[in-house]
Amino acid sequence: MQEILLLSGPNLDLLGTRSPEIYGSSTLAEHVEAAASRAAVAGLSLRHLQSNFEGDLIEAVHAARETSAAIIINAGALTHSSWALADALATFYGPKIELHLSNPAAREPFRHVSTLAGAVDGSLAGLGALGYLLAVDAVVALLASR
Ligand code: DQA
Repeated sequence: MQEILLLSGPNLDLLGTRSPEIYGSSTLAEHVEAAASRAAVAGLSLRHLQSNFEGDLIEAVHAARETSAAIIINAGALTHSSWALADALATFYGPKIELHLSNPAAREPFRHVSTLAGAVDGSLAGLGALGYLLAVDAVVALLASR
């Protein structure tokens, strides 16, 4: 069974209580469960890693080169600063989707830049919990088309 790796960056472990007016009231575990169920319908497994440390996410991308068919990543604020994570993603050749609960383009100026955007196939932002389901759908479609 092909695996999707879902990566969650810094502070996403606080979802549910972190700025619910921006990120909603669902917990990260609830988003992961919904994404995993969506993947299962398409016959894919989903593995999740959350870390508050950039290096953990980079190493997870490296390991995914051997284990995973696709990556969905919500890198949190590392989205706006981490060229190292962008470089790591560029080494992964399966489908890659950048995901955000909020719409960074409609927020503070520092969120308007994504270092990851050029290293992924596409991005989903501002759709809240729905984004997790659509990201899985996007990966399923991209895998089918390759
Ligand atoms: C986020 C948006 C980022 O700007 C922010 O730093 C996050 C969450 C989102 O899902 O909307 O931590 O990635």
